[in-house]
Amino acid sequence: MVENKMKDIKKFYTDGFFIVDDFLEEKFYKKLLHTFKKENNWERVDQVRPHYQKGGPFEMESKYFPKNDEEYYLQGWRAKVLEESSCWRKDYAEIFLTKINKLFQNIVKTDTTYILKYMKNDFSRIHVDDLRGDVDRVDISILYYLCDEWIWDWGGILMIAKSTKSEDMHAVMPKGNRIVFINNQKKLPHCVTPVAEYAKENRYAVASFIGCKEPFK
Ligand SMILES: [Fe+2]
Repeated sequence: MVENKMKDIKKFYTDGFFIVDDFLEEKFYKKLLHTFKKENNWERVDQVRPHYQKGGPFEMESKYFPKNDEEYYLQGWRAKVLEESSCWRKDYAEIFLTKINKLFQNIVKTDTTYILKYMKNDFSRIHVDDLRGDVDRVDISILYYLCDEWIWDWGGILMIAKSTKSEDMHAVMPKGNRIVFINNQKKLPHCVTPVAEYAKENRYAVASFIGCKEPFK
């Protein structure tokens, strides 16, 4: 139950992220996974952006992160029609936003929410979540995972660093019914490692970018 995770929410403010497993009721999680698996309208996302350049939104300081002359790439799939459907928006508002508002004490102002699929070779390079869609300031980035099973070496691992100066990153397994809340005001660099050729499942995710009524700090 989300209500029982209230005590862990301090990690969101101290570490910059926190994870809740078994976020949704099993019945609803299974229904959602089934919907995503049977969806056949996926649009290719193939981004190339010069965002690592000096003064760019993804400029990094660590010698282990992309340099100014590199480019940001993201490859994956997006269910745009499903995202815009009224039944998904209703489900999202009733199930996700209600729980998120409960966790964060009613601070959600607006959201931009994507339904994503990563198949073999899909990935996202290191970035911070900046401005998205209708959200003029992304305060909370949410990643909710759906898949029957996942194995560490299938790739598709979420890696999170403490800052743009970090040497190391923390690995998060994208296991089904797990949600990750990232405090975007801390600008934590993160990426998704490429999904391996031999991965036996697709990696589905709901990625939501939330603007709050007021900044936290
Ligand atoms: Fe991100």
